[in-house]
Amino acid sequence: MAWGSKELDITSSARCSELIGALSPLVIINAAAWTDVDGAESNPESAHAVNAIGPKNIAVAAKLVGAIFAHVSTDYVFSGISEVPWEEYDTRGPVSVYGITKAVGEVEVLSEYPEKSYIFRTAWLYSQWGKNFAKTMTRLAFMGDGEVRVVNDQVGQPTSASDLAAQIVNTILAELPFGIYHGTNSGNASWFDFAQKIFELTGESTSRVVPVSSAEFVRPAKRPAYSVLGHGAWKSAVESGYPVEVMREWQLALAGEMPGIIKMVQDETRTD
Ligand SMILES: NC(=O)c1ccc[n+]([C@@H]2O[C@H](COP(=O)([O-])OP(=O)(O)OC[C@H]3O[C@@H](n4cnc5c(N)ncnc54)[C@H](OP(=O)(O)O)[C@@H]3O)[C@@H](O)[C@H]2O)c1
Repeated sequence: MAWGSKELDITSSARCSELIGALSPLVIINAAAWTDVDGAESNPESAHAVNAIGPKNIAVAAKLVGAIFAHVSTDYVFSGISEVPWEEYDTRGPVSVYGITKAVGEVEVLSEYPEKSYIFRTAWLYSQWGKNFAKTMTRLAFMGDGEVRVVNDQVGQPTSASDLAAQIVNTILAELPFGIYHGTNSGNASWFDFAQKIFELTGESTSRVVPVSSAEFVRPAKRPAYSVLGHGAWKSAVESGYPVEVMREWQLALAGEMPGIIKMVQDETRTD
């Protein structure tokens, strides 16, 4: 069962309790969020309602039926001021309204229902579906032969949405301890590195990708400069003998996803 916002507005505690109570699921995965990072700066109440109150409502409803609750969060709960990966237990320090509301959502879930909740912090998601950086770069790679300017002073982890989905399912099936996990592919990259790899995998010249500073793309919300997430929780689960693996290197995941992304971009371009 997959509910969209039309079926279940997560900002309504009554609707969450009503629908979840009636279905009484074993597991609930919340991927709903206010994800317009810049728009959140001018709509803090709306972002708070979806990103902080929404997960709280689901946690309360999940507790009533005893369901396992998996909540998706973000690297934006951290400040980005670091030179080493953020660990699961590091102190939150968001620098944007979006990040603040997601951080409050985490705290709400962990205070309402710590006994059966997982928080999966992810980042830089891409897939062949919807709109995302990997698809935009693929489209640009095939469009003419001009240069594409991409920031090289923000570092993070390009993450396959399919890998994240599989990791969430495996974690639940393997009955890992509840708590916070960092659901990102391994390694790190700047947006420039990510774009270059995408061009390489499309067969187009990587020299068309030009590194620029984020000062050239001023946006309403501040972005964390360094938001690489450490995988200590997965590593200790592996060492304890749980049947899970740390998520693979981002380059491997991207190479696996690119044929599907290229095909989807070509199909979408034909129907434009
Ligand atoms: N994309 C990334 O790179 C990234 C990075 C870090 C973390 N995340 C986290 O990953 C999760 C999924 O992100 P995404 O990129 O897949 O987001 P997305 O494409 O923007 O999808 C968000 C979904 O939330 C739904 N939604 C919004 N308000 C709702 C409400 N009041 N009640 C119920 N549903 C509501 C939207 O439904 P409608 O379209 O019907 O409004 C939409 O389907 C989020 O928790 C996000 O914070 C994403």
